[in-house]
Amino acid sequence: MNAKVDRMTRIESLISEMTLSEKLGQLTMTACGYAVTGPTIAGDSTEAIKAGTIGSLLNLVGADHIRQMQDLAVAHSRLKIPLLIALDVIHGLRTIFPIPLAEAAMFDREGWERTAREAAHEAAADGIALTFAPMLDVARDPRWGRIAEGPGEDPWLASEIARAKVRGFQGAQLSDRDALAACAKHYCGYGAVTAGRDYASTDVSERTLQEVHLPAFRAALEAGVASVMPAFTDLAGIPMTANRALLRERLRGQYGFDGVIISDYNAIGELLRHGVAADLTEAATLALNAGVDIDMMSNAYRTGLPAALERGWVQIAQIDQAVHRVLTLKTRLGLFDDPYRRGSVPESVAALSERRRFARQIGARSVVMLQNVRATLPLPGSIQRLCVAGPLADAAAEMGGCWCPAARTDTHVSVLQGLRAALPEVAISHAPGVAINGDDRSQIEAALEQCERAEAIVLCLGEAASMSGEAASRSDLDLPGLQRGFAQAVFESASTHDIPVIVVLFSGRPLIVPWLFERADAVLAAWFLGTEAGNAIADLLTGAQSPSARSPVSWPRSMGQVPVFFAQRPSGRPASANDHYTSKYLDAPNEPLINFGHGLTYGQFRYSNLRVAPEAVRESDTLGIEVDLANVGSHEAEETVFLFAHDKLASVSRPLLELKGFRRIHLHPGQSGTVRLSMPASELCFPGVDLERVFEPGEVEILVGPSAERTRLLAQTIVLKT
Ligand code: BGC
Repeated sequence: MNAKVDRMTRIESLISEMTLSEKLGQLTMTACGYAVTGPTIAGDSTEAIKAGTIGSLLNLVGADHIRQMQDLAVAHSRLKIPLLIALDVIHGLRTIFPIPLAEAAMFDREGWERTAREAAHEAAADGIALTFAPMLDVARDPRWGRIAEGPGEDPWLASEIARAKVRGFQGAQLSDRDALAACAKHYCGYGAVTAGRDYASTDVSERTLQEVHLPAFRAALEAGVASVMPAFTDLAGIPMTANRALLRERLRGQYGFDGVIISDYNAIGELLRHGVAADLTEAATLALNAGVDIDMMSNAYRTGLPAALERGWVQIAQIDQAVHRVLTLKTRLGLFDDPYRRGSVPESVAALSERRRFARQIGARSVVMLQNVRATLPLPGSIQRLCVAGPLADAAAEMGGCWCPAARTDTHVSVLQGLRAALPEVAISHAPGVAINGDDRSQIEAALEQCERAEAIVLCLGEAASMSGEAASRSDLDLPGLQRGFAQAVFESASTHDIPVIVVLFSGRPLIVPWLFERADAVLAAWFLGTEAGNAIADLLTGAQSPSARSPVSWPRSMGQVPVFFAQRPSGRPASANDHYTSKYLDAPNEPLINFGHGLTYGQFRYSNLRVAPEAVRESDTLGIEVDLANVGSHEAEETVFLFAHDKLASVSRPLLELKGFRRIHLHPGQSGTVRLSMPASELCFPGVDLERVFEPGEVEILVGPSAERTRLLAQTIVLKT
């Protein structure tokens, strides 16, 4: 008998031995908390694990605690089925890497994969077997705090990240002791919440679903993702947790997903508040019928499904099938062979310190240099007095951003600490000035005095870590508290003393601070970089590293422009200054303040000689694209080159730019090189008039350049043939 058949038979015979309550236990995920006596289980007792009425746990950390709980299941429950231990390992467990939006800015497949691999090592060493990541919600509204957790505004980029993350978390095979099952979330359309308000309703057209919100999930499925989590939200009135059409029919039926579908936290219970279920029995029925296998934290399956069965609303075969999927995942994770395979080998000190070194590199690679007037950065080697000012200057605890509950924030490195370590000879003063979000003005004068005595000011401004992530939407994306006034005062006084001001901006989203770009000499978007934040930022400020990241989102000029993103469709009345009746604002340009893909380096790159071949292609062909670059600046640097397409004439109006590729090139001053990209012509397919995928003949522009700023792109037209 081959291994798969053998596995299936074992699972089936196990299911045949299970009572209904043991079956529903396998479909139940419960959270852990901590009491003096050790971990406790929300709304349950450890007796439930022994009774086999809990199959998986979330929010449990620490190898000892996890082993203790696993022991209850494996040694004391009747059927000895191991627990599935799950946690949100979003950007690291203890060693925290940059938040996902920041990592997206790296445009580096290996980097994306490796941070997930490292996080998997660290989490698996604790005994964790599944992570609720990657989060793949494309988001074009920066009010939404969860934009911080995702890939940014572009579906093609999101798909690349999806593949790399699934590979990274899951490793070579799920049964490896350092592999985590990944969970693609939140399926789907969560990024489109109304007015950017978390958990609000969504309503997305079928075309936009196919073009924007689904591609990254399909990429995760292709990469073999083990589980999927439906979004909390409804889509055009049908909550995703109960969305049979999108879960059972599309995800399972059409896309062939046979892994585990895990509800979001209490999402089955929330079907009552969505107004589609009268009680937990109805809610559980809707979720199971839609295809949800695991009930996270609603206790709806255990309480509701027995009655639903009696009433004939669900069939036992459906429950068995869900249990089958859960047990298959546990088997694939190797839990039946050795439930302690994860968590039994503590990581070495050397591995941990190597990981921190890597986090520092990745941190530096995630910072986008948005502005650098008169080559203010890197700081000149001759500098002797520096003032590190602002409420985020020495805010180690904020550096992790959202989702790092298991990390010790006292090991994070602040900008002040990083700069002091990097520049031991320089006199570095520190002046917070104001709190991140307070109204105390009493420290402002003293801070301005400190600033005046420096040769350069590093002004660290932005959001607190808690201002982005889940349930952290904001309606005003200016700096919180008194920071704007404080920054204006610093700019004012610095300009009278001719002192350059370098702003390091922390945020989980693009902020709307046009006034800041008008006055700052240099601006670094530092997002939240994690454990090694301060060292990574110091590496860039001192020039030990050149910035190389590019913004994965457009930065609006004003809230009135939101949503603003590069892949807009053309208007029948394109904006024209000479024609009143065109698509524009009377009081602002259409373009964002900062384009998708923007990011400066310490080099200076000239693009020339775009070559695209062949000039006529069929769907099965691959396009070869070459462009020459020269670094005409005075520092070595890495440039990211983007590839876009624009289908000029099709049966459906196509976006003015669609991202199709990127590649990086490292050049020394005076050096030239050629960047080669390739693109399967099938990438130019799109959902046609009837929403079926088509490859249509006609002209397509291929564009290459440093960002989505149209005027900076080189273009060549090719012809598609059927
Ligand atoms: C979030 C999920 C997360 C889950 C478990 C929910 O509130 O929406 O993204 O995985 O909690 O922590």
